[in-house]
Amino acid sequence: MASLGIPEISPEFEAQLSDGLSQVEDRLREQIVGKYPLVIETSRHLVDAGGKRLRPLLTLIASHYGDPSRSQVIDAAVVCELTHLGTLYHDDVMDEAPLRRGVMSANTRWTNSVAILTGDYLFAKVSDLLADMGPEAVRLQARTFERLVIGQIMETQGPSAGVDALEHYLNVVADKTGSLIATSARFGALLSGAPRDIMETLTTFGEKMGVAFQLADDVIDISSESFESGKTPGTDLREGIPTLVTLNVMKSHDSADAELRHLLSGPIEDETTVAQVLRELRQHKALDESRSQLVSIAKEARAALGPLPVGAPTGALLSLCDAVIDRTA
Ligand code: IPE
Ligand code: IPE
Ligand code: MG
Ligand code: MG
Repeated sequence: MASLGIPEISPEFEAQLSDGLSQVEDRLREQIVGKYPLVIETSRHLVDAGGKRLRPLLTLIASHYGDPSRSQVIDAAVVCELTHLGTLYHDDVMDEAPLRRGVMSANTRWTNSVAILTGDYLFAKVSDLLADMGPEAVRLQARTFERLVIGQIMETQGPSAGVDALEHYLNVVADKTGSLIATSARFGALLSGAPRDIMETLTTFGEKMGVAFQLADDVIDISSESFESGKTPGTDLREGIPTLVTLNVMKSHDSADAELRHLLSGPIEDETTVAQVLRELRQHKALDESRSQLVSIAKEARAALGPLPVGAPTGALLSLCDAVIDRTA
């Protein structure tokens, strides 16, 4: 059995979650069938490339606060992964990213148009699955997707005059990433019939965990190599997207950082400069500062779990927070 990446989980609970995840895998692939080979090929491209399946995993863990055997729990997990997947196709177009999940991005392998339409096709599949889940589920996904898209647009737009860049960034992260991770937990509670107060607690937890997760992703964009992340390091730098690490450099008044701050003030076009900036950032105290910021948000996520009953699901959620932090170590 492959490890779920949750440290300190009991073998029994891990086996239950793994069984759920393998049903999710089957259902995911079942959604992508039809008589148009190109659409099937482009949609399966990233499904087959893998990924951590964090969102369905959260849905499954959350379903253990209700009845995890209810028939729509698996489909709810599939809805979350397919929504995520569609946004990855679109995100790689926006970020001109060449690599995703260790394989060529769809925009690079085919074209931007094909990548965008593949994302749209996956969103259509999401709506189809949701149609059987009732109005609360449909509205939950719709509002989550709205926040996610607004987060992506606000990232593209940048902060308005007078708005603090870090505050803008944290709002963007909560909207583009916290929203769907919160909803992934919420869906598990909703479709398993868990008590409403538990559903609210799980949503608050998911939002904070999602923010910590994105901050970790932004640190990884600087600190890791492709073979570790499955993505191309420095993608945010090439696009001129400020993230936690670069924002920490920008707010320093250290004159030794003047040239670095100048380079970070816009997109970095040439690869020699990208490599130089990556080297400097990897040794910069802003990286450790960013790690401690994300650790403190992950701690808030852990603290949010306080009202939940002690047991295997709560233990797994606490442990997942540690895994998020460990990714950047
Ligand atoms: C990537 O998400 C986009 C972010 C919100 C950081 P994941 O890191 O969960 O990507 P996969 O699903 O494992 O590929
Ligand atoms: C992705 O943000 C967020 C969504 C897909 C909504 P990023 O652009 O930072 O994620 P990666 O690093 O490409 O996975
Ligand atoms: Mg991206
Ligand atoms: Mg992006």
